[in-house]
Amino acid sequence: MTVERSSPIEMSQTWTGGQIRNAFLAFFAERQHQILPSASLVPEDPTVLLTIAGMLPFKPVFLGQKERPAARATTSQKCIRTNDIENVGRTARHHTFFEMLGNFSFGDYFKKEAIQWSWELSTQVFGLDPKNLVVSVFREDDEAEVIWREVVGVNPNRIIRMDEADNFWASGPTGPCGPCSEIYYDFKPELGDIGINLDDDTRFIEFYNLVFMQYNRDALGKLTLLEKCNIDTGLGLERMAQILQGVPNNYETDLIYPLIQKAALLADIDYKKVDIQRKTSLKVIGDHSRAVTHLICDGVTASNLGRGYILRRLVRRVIRHGRLIGIAKPFLVEMGETAINLMESVYPQLLERRDVILQELQREEARFLETLERGEKLLVDLLSEKPSRISGEKAFELYDTYGFPLELTQEIAEENNLSVDVEGFDRAMAEQRQRAKAASISIDLTVQDAVDQMAIDLESTNFLGYELLESRCTVQRLLVNGKPAKIASIDDSVQIALDTTTFYGEGGGQVGDCGTLVGVDFGNNSALVEIETVTRNDNVFVHAGRITRGTLKEGDTVDCRVDHIARRRVQSNHTATHMLQSALKQVIDPGISQAGSLVNFDRLRFDFHAPREINPAELEQLEKLVNSWIAEAHPLVIQEMEIEEAMASGAVAMFGEKYGDLVRVVDIPDVSMELCGGTHVKNTSELGIFKIVSECGIASGIRRIEALAGQGVLDYLQERDGIVKELGERFKVKPNQIVGRVASLQNEVKSTMKALAVAHEELALVKVLSLSNESITIKDSQYLVKRLDGIDGNALQNAAQSLVDKLGKNAAVILAGQPDLSDQKKVIFVANFGSQIVTGGLHAGQFVGSIAKLCGGGGGGRSTCAQAGGRDVTALNSALDFAREEFISALS
Ligand code: ALA
Repeated sequence: MTVERSSPIEMSQTWTGGQIRNAFLAFFAERQHQILPSASLVPEDPTVLLTIAGMLPFKPVFLGQKERPAARATTSQKCIRTNDIENVGRTARHHTFFEMLGNFSFGDYFKKEAIQWSWELSTQVFGLDPKNLVVSVFREDDEAEVIWREVVGVNPNRIIRMDEADNFWASGPTGPCGPCSEIYYDFKPELGDIGINLDDDTRFIEFYNLVFMQYNRDALGKLTLLEKCNIDTGLGLERMAQILQGVPNNYETDLIYPLIQKAALLADIDYKKVDIQRKTSLKVIGDHSRAVTHLICDGVTASNLGRGYILRRLVRRVIRHGRLIGIAKPFLVEMGETAINLMESVYPQLLERRDVILQELQREEARFLETLERGEKLLVDLLSEKPSRISGEKAFELYDTYGFPLELTQEIAEENNLSVDVEGFDRAMAEQRQRAKAASISIDLTVQDAVDQMAIDLESTNFLGYELLESRCTVQRLLVNGKPAKIASIDDSVQIALDTTTFYGEGGGQVGDCGTLVGVDFGNNSALVEIETVTRNDNVFVHAGRITRGTLKEGDTVDCRVDHIARRRVQSNHTATHMLQSALKQVIDPGISQAGSLVNFDRLRFDFHAPREINPAELEQLEKLVNSWIAEAHPLVIQEMEIEEAMASGAVAMFGEKYGDLVRVVDIPDVSMELCGGTHVKNTSELGIFKIVSECGIASGIRRIEALAGQGVLDYLQERDGIVKELGERFKVKPNQIVGRVASLQNEVKSTMKALAVAHEELALVKVLSLSNESITIKDSQYLVKRLDGIDGNALQNAAQSLVDKLGKNAAVILAGQPDLSDQKKVIFVANFGSQIVTGGLHAGQFVGSIAKLCGGGGGGRSTCAQAGGRDVTALNSALDFAREEFISALS
């Protein structure tokens, strides 16, 4: 790779975002950094929701938990941050999605090189004038200041000290961190004094952060030195583009502006002319369109939890801002398409997953539009009453009935200088739950807060469920709809902590058990609780369910009874997951590693890092191998041992999972050995049969296999059988004749399509001949220039010939068009000149060649008849105007 531009003299030319990205990577590649691809927005690290910085994929490397990919690396990493979502579009530089350019040292170079190179890159490659630059260093970091002053030669007046809030960087409350030093661009150096903080964002923009990663911070906030000193940096691509492109904000750079223009076009407004509110909406749409497109590309689907909720919230904001600027129709697919076109050359997965992205956008938009319209009307009515604030009840009604997230109502309220009664909203939410005593018992975000509290207060639950499915235990804590309660009665949705339990709590990919809790104190009216799922919060098991009989209170004794059948199904799927992982290593690549898994009652899902697609023959091989292990009836050996011993005996650990000193090893001798806390069958023969039902890519470098074991396979076969039966009935054939019937139908369709095409051409010809009326007479000659789309070259040629035959030897005909309406890159031209036109000095081949050139093509042929092609449909009409002018001047 070469640096595309390296001289400050070229500053007068504008840099594109792509050129900035390339120049950065090339600069560090020249300094022995390995260029690595952007990791997914969904991090491998299970404790983090989204990739928020270029360093995130390297967190385990900094911590010494994973081997470094190289001593030095450089990346352009896609990131999403949503903590400042309200500022998007309002300030010059807040984003959800952005690209962070970074150079990293894993125990290799440190402060001096990082500082020197950042300066060299900024001033020599990007050509920034040192007069415009300001540097910050951490309050206690004298070393960094000395390097800036004495090695780099920065004017001491332009170096400022900052405290921990600004110049000590960490990716989260715990983990690798260190002091940092930033470079700011000063748009107005003529104002002189730079003061003590650089908060004025109309004057300064921080564009490069150099983190000297030297500590690990633990949960108590204690810093320990990392074994090696590392460098993590981040240069905001959009920010550098703003500086180098001389535009007033990040959104007007070539990285985002095309999306703004697209939205403006859809709203039929002009970004440059609209008021500030509509400008903000356009910016929000531009920013969020990039975020949602990438999120879906990386495997996120809209939901009410975690990443899915972030996606849903962003999509909903795009739609609402679209409506604020007057876009009434669904438009997300068009925004998604524009975003894909804008970024696919850098992120080719966008093209690979185009259909998935657009479908998800379409689905989610349709869902929201249905409720939005009604909700917005309610809100407008509400605002017209000029309230002093929006009541909690109304905000809750908007949330509950119309799907308005609270934040959306808050945002709209804020635009109208109103606040929302959030406490009232929470109260209304709790009351409604109480009233409804709903069947819904899934643990949602508010309940989650209460559950978190339980985990802090209570001792770990004693889990007996590896050996037992039933046991007697005591209710430690009781919540009704997430609120602490002394007593719960029939129909209440409850969350219960017990002292001991046989229920497996969701973890390690395996879902929580279901079953019942039965009170032992009140005879026939003893409490009966249907437990739907169990989660774990710091080893406190939370049993979520509904009371279907009697009452329950803290301190009650209950029998817990796990649903045996469901448990058997889930553990078959779990053991199958281990065997699948082993089979993948044997059949595909020993280096395959797990990226995530879900072990459910009805199926299993296994995500893994793999460089390529798994082909159907390999899938069959995987299936056969796992089934052979089932048939061989391997007994499982499960035991606890010291982690060192487990690792030494070759047990596979899941990367990123935290393990204590004592680990549980699930061994299927000669097949698989994994560290795992899940529940398993006693013998592989219990699975009966294993079947893979799908394989697909879910993000770059990550594939997903879905499979079934045991009873799940029977359910699957029955469903398939139903489909086959229905097809047989529809086609009125026996199941074994369906394939033949479909093939003959396909042939029928093919020949019908052919006949249709012939009829279409004949019709076109009739239409064409009627065009002879449109010929223009000049002196004793005539010419006809006409655009005809959707007709192929031969038919066009025949049409031109027929027209000249009809018009006579003094006629010249040019026909041109886009043969395939879905292909914007193909144009054809045909020319047919009568003999007198040729004698008069015009040559069909030369003539058609010169007009085809205007559409980026060429061609030619004989003097009487010729054909040419072009590549730019948008230039076709003006090329035909040019042909008309040529005829006028040649024939006059
Ligand atoms: N990790 C650093 C940041 O995000 C470079 O600012």
